[in-house]
Amino acid sequence: MTQLQFPGGFLWGAATAAYQIEGAAREDGRGESIWDRFTHTPGKIQDSSTGDVACDHYHRWHEDIALMKELGLPAYRFSIAWPRILPQGRGPINQAGLDFYSLLVDELLEAGIVPFVTLYHWDLPQALQDQGGWPARATAEAFVEYADVVSRALGDRVKHWITHNEPWCVGLLSHQIGEHAPGWHDWPAALAASHHVLLSHGWAVPVLRANSPGVEVGITLNFSPAEPASPSAEDLAACRQYDGYFNRWFADPIYLGVYPDDMVAAYTVAGHLPPEGAPYLKDGDLQAIAAPIDFLGVNYYTRAVISSATTLDQGNMPQTPAADVTEMGWEVYPEGLYNLLTQLHADYGPGLIYITENGASYSDAPDSAGRVRDERRLRYLRDHFAAAWRALDAGVPMAGYFVWSLMDNFEWAKGYTQRFGIVWVDYTTQQRLPKDSALWFKQVIANNAVDVGG
Ligand code: FCB
Repeated sequence: MTQLQFPGGFLWGAATAAYQIEGAAREDGRGESIWDRFTHTPGKIQDSSTGDVACDHYHRWHEDIALMKELGLPAYRFSIAWPRILPQGRGPINQAGLDFYSLLVDELLEAGIVPFVTLYHWDLPQALQDQGGWPARATAEAFVEYADVVSRALGDRVKHWITHNEPWCVGLLSHQIGEHAPGWHDWPAALAASHHVLLSHGWAVPVLRANSPGVEVGITLNFSPAEPASPSAEDLAACRQYDGYFNRWFADPIYLGVYPDDMVAAYTVAGHLPPEGAPYLKDGDLQAIAAPIDFLGVNYYTRAVISSATTLDQGNMPQTPAADVTEMGWEVYPEGLYNLLTQLHADYGPGLIYITENGASYSDAPDSAGRVRDERRLRYLRDHFAAAWRALDAGVPMAGYFVWSLMDNFEWAKGYTQRFGIVWVDYTTQQRLPKDSALWFKQVIANNAVDVGG
């Protein structure tokens, strides 16, 4: 039996996001978000479901924290619903919203669980959308006000802040591909939205530092490491471009203070940017975006295999060649995590990395004995933990690893058709049931080590 021992103090955890678990969409003064509007628009969600109730975490959070404690989780990553705090996006504060998260944080700390707070995991107040949403620069200003309000209230206790979750999804998936709220198909707007998300991140960093002494601030990016389908020059060029579109467009401004030249040129040729330059880019923006941060949050699920047939314009995702895929259709490729981490370390040298999401969708349900034998998820996690261990061994400064997700939840455009949880949720009774993967994870945490057999 080979045991991979992780460094002392390595922070294991699980992650969730507000809209995916909370429910209580109209309670205690919460304003409408773009995801409320989107899910209630026919045709947007695969099973026509909404997050109105989701996992009812808003009412069951005591039970959910007890569950985390039972699993021995050292850390928990969750997001704050902006429309609970500022129902109109800016202006009047809804104290009930702040109280909810404040009590949650207190109870986590009492349970010995380190809270990692994501400020924006996609639920923009609809009022801000009505004023232009992320393509409008004013939304970046509103985000800083929101970050200020939340960090004033929680900053004495929360010491790990993630400004944004996955700017690629906010910018491109939501405004170019149109699969997520607000569901646009507009390249120039998508690039403007991406810029304003990054800008709001950069502007918020000093605010969080001021309100939360001793804090660690970071941003979570989603990476799909791109690999060419063949060594042909055409496939290599397409691969480089996909990497620019998905990965470098976000990581370069944050760590290098520039947008990648090759992609600026490509977007200009394609007519997504005017020849005279990006209209949204103002003096000082790039400097603000490159504000030094303490950690990079990395979300990794799969790689992207790219051929010259992959065109960004149709928003078509790369084809998955492999037989071993999860129920999302995503290839199981642990080696990609090792490659990604070592590459990020070499290209950008982030001071610290947390894996802020990694996990797999499989719908294994309770058997007659009430046990969820999610062997495939367990293997997925084990092999990815092992890849992370090898990256650590190769010198990548990684300090923690959050499994996506603590529990089954509302999977955005896929509704409830996908189950990523290590805990089963019965959506009719709202009962929670730890799956085999959760019980196994508990052992990993207790030993701070992973058995990889052999
Ligand atoms: C990520 C999201 C997260 C979840 C997983 C499966 O892109 O951040 O909310 O939906 O994918």
